[in-house]
Amino acid sequence: MTPHGTLDLPPPSSLAAGLSAELQRRIREEISNAGNCISFARYMEMALYEPGLGYYSAGATKLGRDGDFITAPEVSPLFGRCLARQVAEILGHLGAGDVLEFGAGSGRLAADLLCELDRLHCLPQRYLILEVSADLRERQRWRIENDAPALLSRVRWLDALPAGRIRGAIIANEVLDAIPVERVRKGEDRRWYQRCVRAAGHGFDWIDVPVPEDSVLATALARIERHCGSLPGGYTSEISTRLLPWFRALADVLSSGAVLIIDYGCSRCEYYHAQRGDGTLLCHYRHRAHADPFVLIGLQDITAWVDFSAVAAAAHAGGFAVCGYTTQAQFLIALGITDLLAQAAVAGTREGFALAQQTRTLTLPGEMGERMKALGLTRGMSTSLRGFTAASHLHRL
Ligand SMILES: C[S@@+](CC[C@H](N)C(=O)[O-])C[C@H]1O[C@@H](n2cnc3c(N)ncnc32)[C@H](O)[C@@H]1O
Repeated sequence: MTPHGTLDLPPPSSLAAGLSAELQRRIREEISNAGNCISFARYMEMALYEPGLGYYSAGATKLGRDGDFITAPEVSPLFGRCLARQVAEILGHLGAGDVLEFGAGSGRLAADLLCELDRLHCLPQRYLILEVSADLRERQRWRIENDAPALLSRVRWLDALPAGRIRGAIIANEVLDAIPVERVRKGEDRRWYQRCVRAAGHGFDWIDVPVPEDSVLATALARIERHCGSLPGGYTSEISTRLLPWFRALADVLSSGAVLIIDYGCSRCEYYHAQRGDGTLLCHYRHRAHADPFVLIGLQDITAWVDFSAVAAAAHAGGFAVCGYTTQAQFLIALGITDLLAQAAVAGTREGFALAQQTRTLTLPGEMGERMKALGLTRGMSTSLRGFTAASHLHRL
């Protein structure tokens, strides 16, 4: 046994343990105020975003080799350079415009994108970053100041969507998998239960509450079983109920342009496949992945895969046209990752070897190539997007 049950995870520092204890106290208070339990989405929201204490709100290094997990922009600058080609096409089509990046992590993607858009003579008027974490904002500013100092003046940080409307490109890389989800379980009595969170001893535990008829969850579950077949008793998974409001808010902001969403995920019937019986919930702590959200509270990332059929449906209902869906590998290939690799890497050098290795991580099926998908949405702009021209998986949605 370890301090975290049967999971063999490295212990946190005493400072981190203190922050986690305070966060747990607040979650207990929330549960007590609510009566007996809170939804898992509310628990996940507090664990990730509670001001000053949540995983994304407190100060620890999260992304990269010294953090808990690694994202595509951290793997290679070729990711941002490819994405810049897609953004350049969008801005070129519009004549001019802004870029709005959601959840910019360490700021590496923003720095790589800005440098490449500069090389392509296609800089946005403004590069807006909507970041909910004060700590990550500081890290992002530092990164851009270091890597693209001349371009820092174009960057503006926002803590909510812009008040006015914008034209341009909106980017969300590995953001949707950090949006709180509900967890659901089908009972042996064939009814669906919402897995809520209650206090138990010094920690937290699941408590199953029947999903009310006529609720958003009940409607979503009925749609899933209608499309993908009846699921067996004991089947557990996740559902996002926050997508439609998110896209409606985005549609109010984007007058014309495109949204690029890249994330871990798949189509509805792959997501809710009978064999995926324990869902997609995953926690990351110092490059170890496990499925227990009730340990290292506020110190570990909690994510769930993205149901891209639900995302596409919510985007469509919110006012967007769905113009492309493909794997990350095909998206990057269409945007010329192999040409960029050939230009950037001198064969036989250490740098050449590193870039080739990074390209493999981004594109191989067993790595990020097929588990990550790219979805393209447009609004007030009718054009195809180059990133989706190598292979279309739209029919899978
Ligand atoms: C896994 S990190 C990804 C970081 C970065 N995009 C990358 O690829 O390296 C998730 C990011 O999403 C942000 N985030 C989550 N929900 C958000 C929301 N509703 N609005 C803006 N950012 C959000 C988090 O603060 C965090 O920066």
